[in-house]
Amino acid sequence: MNKDDKVLTVTDDVKWIGVLDYDIVTFDVVMETTFGTTYNSYFIDAEKKAIIDTSKASFWDTYLQKLKKVCSPEEISYIILDHTEPDHSGVLLNLMKVAPNACIVGSGNAIRYLEEMIGPGFRHLVVKDGDTLDLGNKTLRFISAPNLHWPDSIYTYLVEDKVLFTCDSFGSHFCDERMYDDQVADFSEPFKYYFDVILKPFSKFMIKAIEKIRDLQIEVVCPGHGPILRSEWKKWVDLSEQYARAYMKFPEANRVFIPYVSAYQKTELLAKGIAKGIAESAEIKVEIMDIEHASLGDLEANMISCNGLIVGCPTINQNILMPIYKLFAVINPIRDHKKLAGGFGSYGWSGEGKKMIETNLSNLKLKYFGEGVFVKFTPSEKEIALAVEYGKNFAKELLKRD
Ligand code: FEO
Repeated sequence: MNKDDKVLTVTDDVKWIGVLDYDIVTFDVVMETTFGTTYNSYFIDAEKKAIIDTSKASFWDTYLQKLKKVCSPEEISYIILDHTEPDHSGVLLNLMKVAPNACIVGSGNAIRYLEEMIGPGFRHLVVKDGDTLDLGNKTLRFISAPNLHWPDSIYTYLVEDKVLFTCDSFGSHFCDERMYDDQVADFSEPFKYYFDVILKPFSKFMIKAIEKIRDLQIEVVCPGHGPILRSEWKKWVDLSEQYARAYMKFPEANRVFIPYVSAYQKTELLAKGIAKGIAESAEIKVEIMDIEHASLGDLEANMISCNGLIVGCPTINQNILMPIYKLFAVINPIRDHKKLAGGFGSYGWSGEGKKMIETNLSNLKLKYFGEGVFVKFTPSEKEIALAVEYGKNFAKELLKRD
């Protein structure tokens, strides 16, 4: 018997049959998951039995074991997918084999995505905002909540039990087998980090979705990851709204992030010169950082809070260096597009880094400013002065955008 064999009661007729994943190191490749995560799935024991969301493919055996504790899979009438990312839909093909009578329910986008993921031809039902689904003695109502964080996302409300299923919204990558928000350890840090990385770029949609659920009678919010919010669900929803509203106003202050790597401190000299030029403008904060050993979380946090980015890297063997590619990986064009950007670096022979930095930042939809500051070997005093000048001009351009 797998150690993770728990089924938990949410209400008399709603059971958590999700999976605990203590071992995950990164999520979606770029998000660090220091506290692990859970893939929450819920079983509704109505006359017509239903599942809300499923689990990641690699946990099929554990998932099936839990499912069999609450029903015979062939009894399942509906599998509702509030969102189809594979951490919630990964076991679906297997599940459909053991639950051949189930109809897959989701938004139009969800069904289209599933057709691409698992192939067309499965029995399905497309639901829209306000639609209801009769489970015999219980009712599901669907709430359109798009772009949280995929276009397919919806919420599902179990009317009689006053339970709201929200998938990624109000979730966190946090694994604690006690699962209930009033029993687990403090998860405010992973909750905020999850919001920042997954939901923050979609803050305006978060606010819209929260407005839609404000008038619902809710006893429990059941997210797709992390603790079940049964005692303080309002606190977590309010926090999400607060984060989203703060982001919508962002940036309240101008902040330029200058990440760089420097093999022999030549590129670093340029970084300091540019930072000095920017710092002459009292209205702009500057964060200069050697990112050779920076964590993804640090890079992400700085990308979220800057509205200007100037990237520095030497050209070595006609290429730029790995930490800079790591930085590019955490740039989110949905969140970061149109941020003012620049580049700098020292090179020895041919200086390909200049083009690589500019091209990557432009491809990621940032607005590249000027020519940057790229110099051969050690920057001269004149070139350091050019870096300061570039910083000043960058600052002026940034302030013009207010
Ligand atoms: Fe938890 Fe967007 O999947």
